[in-house]
Amino acid sequence: MCFVHVLDTDRRVLTLTGATPPYDAVVGRVTLAVGEGLTGWVAANGRPAVLIDDKRADPRYRYISELQGERYTSMASVPMTSRPGALVGVLNVHTVERRVFGGADVRLLSSIGSLVAGAIVSARLHRRVAEREQARERFAERIVALQEGERRRLAAEIHDGISQRIVGLAFYLSAAADAVATDATFAAQQIAAARLLAREALDETRVAIAGLRPPVLDDLGLGASIASLRRSVPDVDVDVDVDVAPGALAEHVETALYRIAQEALQNVAKHAGAEHVSVTLRAAGTDAVELRVGDDGRGFALDDRPGAARVSYGLSGMRERAELISGTLRVQSRPGAGTTIIVRVPVIQAAGSSSRE
Ligand SMILES: Nc1ncnc2c1ncn2[C@@H]1O[C@H](COP(=O)(O)OP(=O)(O)OP(=O)(O)O)[C@@H](O)[C@H]1O
Ligand SMILES: [Mg+2]
Repeated sequence: MCFVHVLDTDRRVLTLTGATPPYDAVVGRVTLAVGEGLTGWVAANGRPAVLIDDKRADPRYRYISELQGERYTSMASVPMTSRPGALVGVLNVHTVERRVFGGADVRLLSSIGSLVAGAIVSARLHRRVAEREQARERFAERIVALQEGERRRLAAEIHDGISQRIVGLAFYLSAAADAVATDATFAAQQIAAARLLAREALDETRVAIAGLRPPVLDDLGLGASIASLRRSVPDVDVDVDVDVAPGALAEHVETALYRIAQEALQNVAKHAGAEHVSVTLRAAGTDAVELRVGDDGRGFALDDRPGAARVSYGLSGMRERAELISGTLRVQSRPGAGTTIIVRVPVIQAAGSSSRE
């Protein structure tokens, strides 16, 4: 009988992932902590173990009812490593008849274990790439939908608001033009009305444009805008340190960084249960800036176990935004150890910017 127990990417739990029949029926339903049972011992120590007789007498052995250990006499358990030191899981072989597993058996099992480990690692990579691809597609769809929505909103604002005012404006101006020679008072009234409409049209233009770029960025600049995001994480102590000269970044880069900081803080508010979060934006070397949002909250497991397919946009959206400005996004997180989002964006000196005042 052969069992493959795979270590999860948190490196804490081994899950029965493959088994010869009839135990394939319990695949996924048997888990062991690292250190638990002989399998856990092998994972914890990275060394093979062999039990030939009376395995129950070995303190490391643990009876698992689903696997019916009473039917088997001897067992060999070897670590599966994809490369030295990189434990992927544990491979166990049990025999009905007593069998003296020797050094050659253990070596053979270890090399079979490495083959399986290699396959598991590439399957994981493949799954990660596929999920990333799906997330990218979902994001692209969302962007297109958002752009469409944005376009409709702008069209409506131009059509219903701005162009109506301009029609009115033209009307008052023609009336003023007709009256200017004969009735100067009337003409002045028409011009005053036209001026009012011009002002209204201008206000509506501002409102329409404000929807495209967070207005706070123009009003306050990037540093103060990011600082103003404090309000979105009410019960958390937020530390903001932005050390990037105003105007050093292109507008679309500012918008992306602002939106990423906004979503990262939103996540802190929603998921982290943090006491403290620090947001920094600084130069990283001479040709890049780095945004970091780090909290001391509960953190989360970065692994993508099967079945954990998520319908969330936050992290993938942040990554896509970073990539759209040629940047990269890294997430550092572990359960119990907080979360840090790190975005690094290259800064391309605008032509002539060195001579700019
Ligand atoms: N700062 C954080 N602390 C703890 N867990 C986090 C943090 N940021 C993200 N997570 C975890 O990662 C998951 C994915 O985050 P993501 O922003 O992609 O989705 P979401 O916030 O759940 O939903 P959405 O952002 O689409 O509204 C979250 O559901 C949460 O479990
Ligand atoms: Mg989110």
